Amino acid sequence: MLISDYKFLFCQKLEDKYSKEEVLNFFFLLIEHRLNLRRVDLALDRSLKLTSSDLEYFSQCLQELESHRPIQYIIGSTEFMDLDYKVTEAVLIPRPETEELINWIKQDFQDANKTLKILDIGTGSGCIPISLAKNFVNAEVHSIDVSSEALEIARYNAKANNVTIKFINKNILSVDKLDDTYDIIVSNPPYVRELEKVEISQNVLKHEPSLALFVDDNDPLVFYRKITQLAKDSLNEGGSLYFEINEYLGKETSDLIIVIGLKNIVLRKDIFERDRMIKANK
Ligand SMILES: C[S@@+](CC[C@H](N)C(=O)[O-])C[C@H]1O[C@@H](n2cnc3c(N)ncnc32)[C@H](O)[C@@H]1O
Repeated sequence: MLISDYKFLFCQKLEDKYSKEEVLNFFFLLIEHRLNLRRVDLALDRSLKLTSSDLEYFSQCLQELESHRPIQYIIGSTEFMDLDYKVTEAVLIPRPETEELINWIKQDFQDANKTLKILDIGTGSGCIPISLAKNFVNAEVHSIDVSSEALEIARYNAKANNVTIKFINKNILSVDKLDDTYDIIVSNPPYVRELEKVEISQNVLKHEPSLALFVDDNDPLVFYRKITQLAKDSLNEGGSLYFEINEYLGKETSDLIIVIGLKNIVLRKDIFERDRMIKANK
């Protein structure tokens, strides 16, 4: 079947569930993943065809998209800060707002050759430690996650992106003191309250790891409290703590950091004007 004809059927099948723009995006991602063809290749050669095994593959993908499985899990990869990452259901799909957090750290520590010691807490796919290791070429980067499945993916991604990171399998909530001291501690910990589940889309709820997302309504800042306490002891003098935060809890998170005793708190909004990031200094 001609790819251009199949595109029409593909879009029709998903039109009730996604916007037209999203469906086209899925289609071109799948074409690129399966056939290594870009959008421009299809425009230049209208005679390109799908084989029966391609059609079987696309039909399987359609079923998964209909059940709201994220496209990144279907193709098994995503892009973050211009690098490719393997992703499975064991890890959160890296988000654009996390790129803003990385860019903030890069702006603050402009000298990419500086010798820094960096700790990331809540590794997931490894997007934060890998981006930082890639930028700060002389940095020693450590990264902690409670999930051994997530660490397996992060190790793969570190190797594929040519960086060395020390990965540590630990439950941060059970740590009394960090083993090292650091210039930068950064974390995008779980922060979505159970009560916010109503705002979360089906694809996230059904497919992304709840361990990476949710916290108890009664103590939504549990990770921020623990990590700030650990950072207070383990940041080098003048060192910085960076968090991605729950957009509804900007003030509460700032107040908590002040009470624990860090200073120079800066609360930043993302490009959509939502409170999304906090920085503090020792
Ligand atoms: C919001 S995800 C962030 C993942 C990745 N850093 C990112 O930005 O895409 C939070 C991560 O924290 C990890 N995590 C959850 N509870 C933890 C705990 N008690 N100790 C350490 N890591 C934990 C999860 O496994 C998950 O990978």
